[in-house]
Amino acid sequence: MEHFDGGIPRTVKIVEVGPRDGLQNEKKLVPANVKIALIERLANAGLAAIEATAFVSPKWVPQMADNADVLRGIVRKPGVRYAALTPNMKGYEAARNGGADEVAIFAAASEAFSQRNINCSIAESLARFEPVLAAAQADGVPVRGYVSCVVGCPYDGNVPIENVASVAGALIEMGCYEVSLGDTIGVGTPVKVQRMLQQVARRVPMEKLAGHFHDTYGMAIANVHASLQLGMAAFDSSVAGLGGCPYAQGASGNVATEDVIYLLDALGVETGVDMAPLLAAGQFISSYLGRPAASKVARALRSSTAS
Ligand code: HMG
Ligand code: MG
Repeated sequence: MEHFDGGIPRTVKIVEVGPRDGLQNEKKLVPANVKIALIERLANAGLAAIEATAFVSPKWVPQMADNADVLRGIVRKPGVRYAALTPNMKGYEAARNGGADEVAIFAAASEAFSQRNINCSIAESLARFEPVLAAAQADGVPVRGYVSCVVGCPYDGNVPIENVASVAGALIEMGCYEVSLGDTIGVGTPVKVQRMLQQVARRVPMEKLAGHFHDTYGMAIANVHASLQLGMAAFDSSVAGLGGCPYAQGASGNVATEDVIYLLDALGVETGVDMAPLLAAGQFISSYLGRPAASKVARALRSSTAS
């Protein structure tokens, strides 16, 4: 991985999670055709990794029940990877049949969150992921891992960094090509995040780590910058700052993709993402949802073009 002198990578991968993390918490069902139109707009804006949906229980997350329709309906753009969340073999098989290019398994660093989110302990979740990884490996499907609650849990409060490192390490050893570290409830602040990353990076190299920051306290963009300074080169974000986890009370959206791109453009970091079509994609889904984009950059640029 190449670095500027300051340690900031020259290129960064953005994983757009708006269609999944962004929409999973919406109470009103968003029709599959709107999700498909959003995904196609995001791909046209230059996002090459898009988490399109989740093959989870529709009883647990009704918004993702149209997973297969969404995946099948997308007009695929060459070079774009369309991923899906899969908590178990049932989800993996459905995602594979639906044409997911990549799947993501999701664990937590806190026991209470693991129970609330996927109804099992951390150890049980890792055991459930073993056959998913084996099947994906046989099928040639890349698997990404998530660890939730990396700087705090809505139920357990403080989460020891050793737990984050140990779950992230286990996911890599099991065969994930990358682990995304989730600040599920946005309680991270730059120094806290850097301390966590430095310790986790002793177990998993920074090249295999990604940052997934929710913006509950407005710290997400600061946490992205703090992580960049340690050489992190992959970040998850949601267009228009959509989102929140249904099993993390009070969790607000992911860091907005527009805001991350604005920061990275200003730092001279390559992402392959174009701001104008990205803003239009955010405007499209925000209009559908009937509320303004949570992205500060989207608001600023809209008011500057309006005035
Ligand atoms: P369970 O109830 O323990 O599962 O749920 P089960 O195996 O006993 O099955 C119960 C029922 O669910 C059965 O159906 C299964 O067939 C069905 P029934 O016989 O009752 O009709 N089922 C499924 N259906 C569809 N797809 C599947 C599936 N698996 C079982 N894959 C389970 C366990 C994991 C399924 C459930 O807890 C679940 O779906 N949880 C998902 C919760 C979720 O999606 N959370 C949000 C995503 S994670 C997140 O947002 C955090 C992240 O963004 C990072 C961060 O911010 O920290 C990634
Ligand atoms: Mg999340």
